Amino acid sequence: MATIETRQDEMIEFLRTLRQVRQFAPGEIPDDQLRAILNVGRWSGSASNKQPWQLIVVRDHDTLQRLADASQTAKHVAGASAAIVIVLDGASKTTETFDEGRLTERLMLAAKVFGIVAGVGWAGDADHARQVRSLLGIPEGKTVRAIVALGYPATSAPGGHGGRKPFDEVVAFGHYNGSAPRE
Ligand SMILES: Cc1cc2nc3c(=O)[nH]c(=O)nc-3n(C[C@H](O)[C@H](O)[C@H](O)COP(=O)(O)O)c2cc1C
Repeated sequence: MATIETRQDEMIEFLRTLRQVRQFAPGEIPDDQLRAILNVGRWSGSASNKQPWQLIVVRDHDTLQRLADASQTAKHVAGASAAIVIVLDGASKTTETFDEGRLTERLMLAAKVFGIVAGVGWAGDADHARQVRSLLGIPEGKTVRAIVALGYPATSAPGGHGGRKPFDEVVAFGHYNGSAPRE
């Protein structure tokens, strides 16, 4: 029987090992799982609890292809089983950007529960955003940037590119560049 410590270790490892995946194998995501992922997403915290978003679910393969074609950096969306396009109210550039990051990460983590991998595509330039807007009927004034592509990992899919900076380079204790206390 798993001890509480083992369970905690497993959960921390589950969170730590979330990676970006861009190569997908075919396969439809069950409706109930997609709904569960979206439900986790819509419970994300946001500044002043404004929840300044609409999540557009795209499952049609032709539309996924068009979303990919519009961009230089989101080509992987074409091979996804579904994509969630995050539309922000456009009222605040700063807080909505933060809110969008929280929402994106939650969607990715919730997907991972079902063995579904995810890759963010960024409609960062004005032309890409305009094409996404036109494709999905998103009104002017709304912000559209993050497209979360969801699917099943291709067997050849690498588990993310690169590692991370060492712990001691990233984490400081007590003050800027402060070292960890001695054991
Ligand atoms: C704001 C933001 C924009 C991103 N845009 C793209 C993108 O347009 N295309 C892409 O393939 N990945 C995009 N990514 C994913 C990053 O490349 C990815 O998080 C990073 O490489 C780390 O991946 P890993 O967790 O697998 O190591 C974006 C991530 C963030 C946070």
